[in-house]
Amino acid sequence: MAGFTDMVFRGLCKERGADVMITEFVMADGLLRERERVWRTIDFVEEQRPMGVQIFGSSPQTMAEAGKQVMDRLQPDFLDLNFGCPADKVTCQDAGSSLLRDLPKLGRVAKAVVDALPDQPVTAKMRIGWDESSIVAVEAARILEEAGIRAIAVHGRTKVQGYSGEPNWPVIAEVAETVKIPVIGNGNITDAREVTRIRRETKCAGLMIGRAALGYPWIFNEIKVALREGTPPPPPTLEERWAILFDYATRLQEQLCPYPLERKDDIGWMRAKILSLTKNLPGGKKMRGALSRIKSLRELQALREETLQAAGRRKDFSKTANQV
Ligand SMILES: Cc1cc2nc3c(=O)[nH]c(=O)nc-3n(C[C@H](O)[C@H](O)[C@H](O)COP(=O)(O)O)c2cc1C
Repeated sequence: MAGFTDMVFRGLCKERGADVMITEFVMADGLLRERERVWRTIDFVEEQRPMGVQIFGSSPQTMAEAGKQVMDRLQPDFLDLNFGCPADKVTCQDAGSSLLRDLPKLGRVAKAVVDALPDQPVTAKMRIGWDESSIVAVEAARILEEAGIRAIAVHGRTKVQGYSGEPNWPVIAEVAETVKIPVIGNGNITDAREVTRIRRETKCAGLMIGRAALGYPWIFNEIKVALREGTPPPPPTLEERWAILFDYATRLQEQLCPYPLERKDDIGWMRAKILSLTKNLPGGKKMRGALSRIKSLRELQALREETLQAAGRRKDFSKTANQV
């Protein structure tokens, strides 16, 4: 997920049960122009396999060439094509979900990439259509299958919906009924109950979790344990959540800091990333206010201690109150 699922974050998800991961999308053109930052975005380490790298673009030739370079240089387990991004800066280039308005072109892009990589798996991610009046997922999936795409992830919303409203699972189910290749369902999955329902109602071969993992990478194991044993494991304590947040920030600073040496202590660049890990944390709102002001790992550590001490005091107080 663009801006969030960097290599360090993917490590957190892998350690907590994610089976298959895909990098955030990168522009095919950017890869071909040898932009260092773009190549760094899709880097991964061996423990993160099976890994897919996702690219976007609108020219069949550029996508094919970029796909080939990615497979040659990084050897991910598969290459994934983005036909789902709703952002204007992507759709105005006729890329991402914009290709759902031009299915012949969608097919040409997919086929060009598959033909350039005859022995390697190419997969695709798409939405169900541009808007309510143009739900094309089934037709698009047929075209992608015909082009040689090996699996399709379907986010059950239209481009116009963005990230709001309910995902349309009946359409995802129809796609999974129609094509022979595996279909991975996506949209608002947050717990095992939802997973069980989707498994019952669709022939999806797999499920994809997006936003719920950003704030809570424990979700993968939690769902797996709940499916296996009937109840989820106890959630991580506040101490554990802080430990992960701090470890994440430290590793980000060591591995991905984009600032020159003289600014290397400044953690402003990662603020959105660490803020997203505080979602649903007890006292999270207040903490987010404090987090948006801190400037260094030292200050982050001080905030960690302060928050944990305050939580400890609250616990002691409620124990005493209960005894009274
Ligand atoms: C900030 C953000 C960045 C995203 N970046 C990507 C991306 O790079 N590639 C992609 O296929 N989907 C991307 N998505 C979409 C998600 O993968 C997913 O399809 C969508 O959020 C719906 O699933 P969810 O309800 O589980 O979040 C992004 C979503 C968000 C909110």
